[in-house]
Amino acid sequence: MTFNRYHIKDPSLASEGKKRIEWASREMPVIRLIRDRFAAQKPLKGIRVSACLHITTETANLALTLKEGGADIILCASNPLSTQDDVAAALVEYGIPVNAIRGEDEATYYKHINAALDNRPQLTVDDGADLVTTLHTKRAKLIADVIGGTEETTTGVIRLRSLERASKLKYPIIAVNDAQTKYLFDNRYGTGQSTIDGVTRATNVLWAGKKVVVCGYGWCGQGIALRAKGLGSQVVITEVEPVKALEAVMDGYQVMPIVEAARLGDIFITVTGDKNVIDKPHLQAMKDGAILANSGHFNVEINIPALESLARSKRRIRPLVDEYTLNDGRRLYLLAEGRLVNLAAAEGHPASVMDMSFANQALCLEYMVKNRGSLKIKVHPVPKKIDKQVARLKLNSMGISIDRLTPEQKEYLTSWEQGT
Ligand SMILES: NC(=O)c1ccc[n+]([C@@H]2O[C@H](COP(=O)([O-])OP(=O)(O)OC[C@H]3O[C@@H](n4cnc5c(N)ncnc54)[C@H](O)[C@@H]3O)[C@@H](O)[C@H]2O)c1
Repeated sequence: MTFNRYHIKDPSLASEGKKRIEWASREMPVIRLIRDRFAAQKPLKGIRVSACLHITTETANLALTLKEGGADIILCASNPLSTQDDVAAALVEYGIPVNAIRGEDEATYYKHINAALDNRPQLTVDDGADLVTTLHTKRAKLIADVIGGTEETTTGVIRLRSLERASKLKYPIIAVNDAQTKYLFDNRYGTGQSTIDGVTRATNVLWAGKKVVVCGYGWCGQGIALRAKGLGSQVVITEVEPVKALEAVMDGYQVMPIVEAARLGDIFITVTGDKNVIDKPHLQAMKDGAILANSGHFNVEINIPALESLARSKRRIRPLVDEYTLNDGRRLYLLAEGRLVNLAAAEGHPASVMDMSFANQALCLEYMVKNRGSLKIKVHPVPKKIDKQVARLKLNSMGISIDRLTPEQKEYLTSWEQGT
């Protein structure tokens, strides 16, 4: 066990963290099954893994699974505000070095990424591609040892595809985000529920009767809109893609440009993966008391420098709630400094959905090792077999069985001869 490779807030928080990790594990039956198999088969024996993930109870269950599989794993945070310090302490006690402190500044955040890279990874696990980008730009010498990597979120996959297009990607990476058993559940139901949870915990607002503007109607936005609607909010969607906008209309939401929605909203939630989605003119048009939150990966979706420039004063009125008073006296409230509100103000996704996302992670890492040297250097989809296996295991764990195709049906569904 190596204990000189970590940097955490307070080791004495470990016992609290251990209990919470155990609690999350109850809801992670698929990861538990994989962990048992990994413990017996050791598919990652001796493999050095550097993982940049939100340091949460669910991540802890993944990390323990990889360690059971024989991996030498080191962790750092994928966001400065999402670390659960008790979980970090517990993991260190379990013999997994963690470099992450909730609220760390940007310099420390990158110091921690570099500390994780000091492990000379053979596998990388990333959430947003900060670790992979640092590896490619600042620590490129380490790449010779890397077998492959995985990426957890939409924004990370977009960055990696751009790296691939620029012919600068140096090793194969599997886009775990793009597994159906990831985005259909984690992004939609996980982000949906936990974003509402984060805004509620930060503000204690009543959702019923509020005008909630959701910017972006992708997988995450759909989940947030659905849950806000369920709580009695009137939901307005803003989009840039006509098909998504049309889907939102047919799902029963009002759709309009942000410049119009800005005047109406009581609560704004951005979840696009894009930049300055709520920009200066929109901030200028907002009602007194409007609440602004972001659940997209980076804190660039709300133009915070513009908000700062418009404000005559700023104070922290509640934990994670900053009140900006504009020159004309209107007040706007920014939650969690514009960072992922579900992780900063709540606990992130419930364990039950992370069970599937992280099952994909564990199985894809095993796949990478099994196929070392034979995968092309590009961003790969999750193998269909793994995606289906995760869905099947999850259904089994819920006690649900489904039908199987009969030979007659199989033939019918694969033939072109049979028609009317
Ligand atoms: N909070 C979390 O825990 C969590 C979980 C998963 C994903 N994410 C992040 O959330 C973001 C969205 O992920 P997703 O899976 O929903 O992506 P997605 O690609 O399915 O959806 C994004 C949507 O935003 C729209 N969009 C882009 N620019 C816009 C703009 N200026 N105005 C309005 N709409 C715009 C796009 O057309 C698209 O429909 C990403 O940054 C992703 O990494 C966060």
